[in-house]
Amino acid sequence: MDRNLIIHPKVQQAWDEDKVTLERWQVPRYSAAEEQFRVLATRLRTMLGQPGAPGRVVALTSALPGEGKTLNCVNLATVLARDFEYRALLLEADLKRPAIGRGNRHIPGLIEYVSGEVPLKGVIRGTAIEGLSVLTAGRAENPLSTQVLGSALLQRTMLRLRESFDFVVVDCPPMLAASDLGLVAEWTDHFLLVVKAGTTDRSVVKSSMECLPKGKFLGAVLSDTREQDDRYRYGTY
Ligand SMILES: Nc1ncnc2c1ncn2[C@@H]1O[C@H](COP(=O)(O)OP(=O)(O)OP(=O)(O)O)[C@@H](O)[C@H]1O
Ligand SMILES: [Mg+2]
Repeated sequence: MDRNLIIHPKVQQAWDEDKVTLERWQVPRYSAAEEQFRVLATRLRTMLGQPGAPGRVVALTSALPGEGKTLNCVNLATVLARDFEYRALLLEADLKRPAIGRGNRHIPGLIEYVSGEVPLKGVIRGTAIEGLSVLTAGRAENPLSTQVLGSALLQRTMLRLRESFDFVVVDCPPMLAASDLGLVAEWTDHFLLVVKAGTTDRSVVKSSMECLPKGKFLGAVLSDTREQDDRYRYGTY
């Protein structure tokens, strides 16, 4: 007898609800855009060394809001897990505008964990991609983001996460939220600056690069939204 026949559909449903859905940000499979994320992942791998090497907490920020941080984080983490078979964690550190958290309201995250409401294993959730886990911001719009991002508990927890994952990709607030970003910098190794090509002023990009913590700036990711067919281009300064 086919064992699948005895599984009640609702059991499968409940299991799926525990997962974080990222589909709204993921570019189409085998698209040119997806290939560009593999190029970015390969560059990271080359720059940061082979699995097991330290320094694999990579944060993405941008000078201004809406430049494509979340979209880049989701797709980078996706290809790291799916195509490179790394254990990847997508960590949502943008507590003021938590897009992934908002799209997955039923799932507790960083805020619930740091405030002691939910243990770590209750906030690290799986996804449809094997090897890709997500820790969302949790409760939407938290005015006390500094207390969460600067907590001693989070500092200690990052040590554990570094052991459990090959890569931690951090979705940051934009650089306007300077205090939050400064706290994230305390527990991340590297920064990538997402730049919406053709929109963000060159001088803004330049001063943003200078403001990022010295020695942690890896490069800029050009997120080009002007062309419909091949909208994603990357480069490093
Ligand atoms: N490379 C890209 N090509 C096409 N559209 C893009 C690209 N990057 C982002 N977008 C679109 O731009 C908008 C903003 O993207 P996203 O939410 O990823 O930005 P963000 O920097 O995380 O924004 P926020 O500062 O609000 O967190 C979304 O509608 C997204 O679909
Ligand atoms: Mg975002």
